[in-house]
Amino acid sequence: MCGIIGYTGKEPALPLILGGLERLEYRGYDSAGVAIIEDGRLIVEKRVGKIRELVKSLWGKPYEGKTGIGHTRWATHGEPSTENAHPHTDEKREFAVVHNGIIENYLELRGELEREGVSFRSNTDTEVIAHLIAKSYRGDLLEAVLEVVKKLRGAFAFAVITVHEPGRIIGVKQGSPLVVGISEGENFLASDIPAILPYTRRVITLSDGEIADLTPEGVNIYDFNGNPITKDITIVPWDLISAEKAGFKHFMLKEIYEQPKAVGDTIRGLLSPAEELPFSLKEFRRVLVIACGTSYHAGLIGKSWIEKYTGVPTEVVYASEFRYGDFPVSEEDLIIGISQSGETIDTKFAINFAKDKGARTLAVVNVVGSSIDREADYTLHTHAGPEIGVAATKTFTAQLTALYFLAASNHGERDKLIAELMKMPARIEAVLEKAEDVERIAQKFMKKKDFLYLGRYLSYPIALEGALKLKEISYIHAEGYPAGEMKHGPIALIDENMPVVVVCPQDRVYDKTLSNVEEVRTRKGIVISVGFEGDERLEKVSREFISVPPVEEDFTPFVTVVPLQLLAYYIASRLGLDVDQPRNLAKTVTVE
Ligand code: M6R
Repeated sequence: MCGIIGYTGKEPALPLILGGLERLEYRGYDSAGVAIIEDGRLIVEKRVGKIRELVKSLWGKPYEGKTGIGHTRWATHGEPSTENAHPHTDEKREFAVVHNGIIENYLELRGELEREGVSFRSNTDTEVIAHLIAKSYRGDLLEAVLEVVKKLRGAFAFAVITVHEPGRIIGVKQGSPLVVGISEGENFLASDIPAILPYTRRVITLSDGEIADLTPEGVNIYDFNGNPITKDITIVPWDLISAEKAGFKHFMLKEIYEQPKAVGDTIRGLLSPAEELPFSLKEFRRVLVIACGTSYHAGLIGKSWIEKYTGVPTEVVYASEFRYGDFPVSEEDLIIGISQSGETIDTKFAINFAKDKGARTLAVVNVVGSSIDREADYTLHTHAGPEIGVAATKTFTAQLTALYFLAASNHGERDKLIAELMKMPARIEAVLEKAEDVERIAQKFMKKKDFLYLGRYLSYPIALEGALKLKEISYIHAEGYPAGEMKHGPIALIDENMPVVVVCPQDRVYDKTLSNVEEVRTRKGIVISVGFEGDERLEKVSREFISVPPVEEDFTPFVTVVPLQLLAYYIASRLGLDVDQPRNLAKTVTVE
């Protein structure tokens, strides 16, 4: 996590860097800082808190320096503080470094440096990089960096500048994302594309083991041995407008409302010959789906569809568990890695591990050109556009779309099934028209301390997803549970203070879930149900009833998840919380 940015060119670097940091803030936001080369010296400014604190501290300081780097932090080593905020410098403040990721052997390196008499100002792993580069420097920054990267272990990306070579930035990628933005007489470096989109759409995506050497005149790429590498320049297809709020109060709300488009665009994208897969799922002995968070929940639903339409046994595993388990993986397996960002390190490592074992790998990603997109053998892209809110919404329904498409494509009735899928944008529109009902319910229950979410079959992952949305943005404790498991423990929690959100469409388990609703009612729990329009049985036994348009069983997740996203959104928004950037979270999780 953390966001890094660098600029070298003809304009004062500071406003460009601050603007870029604001667009990267979703990656981490406990502290921020910049370093600018101004009149042959380094100006370093850092602040705890959000980027606006840093911006405030720079008011009235019109630095003119044309080369600089910036950072927004999500703390791993060292608590959020000014000392631990980036950039970090060497003792003489001649070199400044911003870094994303973890230097695993930093304690060892720090020990060596301290024994040589170097004194440290922070508790971070990053500071070792600044000291090591200063020690290796003999007049060429690239040479010094090449010497230092050989000593570093871990997954990281960093950028470094020095007063000795104003106008030059060196960026290193090993595990964490880093892109180069190319423009006329100016060049950029950033963790993610939106940071540089206002200035350029011409981008080079660095791969692991690559180093970018930027000056205003050009960019050269090298491997860690200093050999030059030729890379293609990609033209980014998004424009900035699609990454702005378009009149919505928060990105999350805008993105919830973008779901009909995200689903429609994903279907259209997957219908293009470029996304066609050269194999059938039925060729495999087993499918293993690997993902984290919301993507994992999409995977749980995808499993049911894959098993239904192909008969191939499918397992879903958290990427962080997969990596350290003893899962037997072979050439007979297909590994599906699902990731919005395409950068989640656990998912990425899991895919690499599976590849090493000879399994074929398929990614479902939103960010084109991301690490997972590039490293998997095949990719199905979700065409949801950039998602800025930390809580995943439109990318979840886009992932569902891609997984349904995949399962249906392996079935004799493919065209009929996909025609049904094409109705989902309109069905989601219909749910969004009822947003006011959800807002009213949110207002009624926003002060509750705990929520339980229940569902069976396809609605169980939706219950998990509803609970995750609520806890991550409202900080209210919420648990998702299979409705049938409630009687094996969680039922003890139910009393007149406990809202229980029950996802209960008229599917194969409808009657069973209704029985669970009765069990909740008997214990005086507050039933908030999500069910089909006109379902009087469910409405009658619920304190609050949220209706969604009736759809075939397979498609219930598309309509039932939306009210749960809205419920979480309205609760957090009414509580006055930072919906788009909830505490402790980051949009892209590039640490283990
Ligand atoms: O980018 P990814 O889909 O790999 O991210 C996985 C999770 O970190 C992500 O879904 C996270 O749980 C979201 N904050 C959920 O809203």
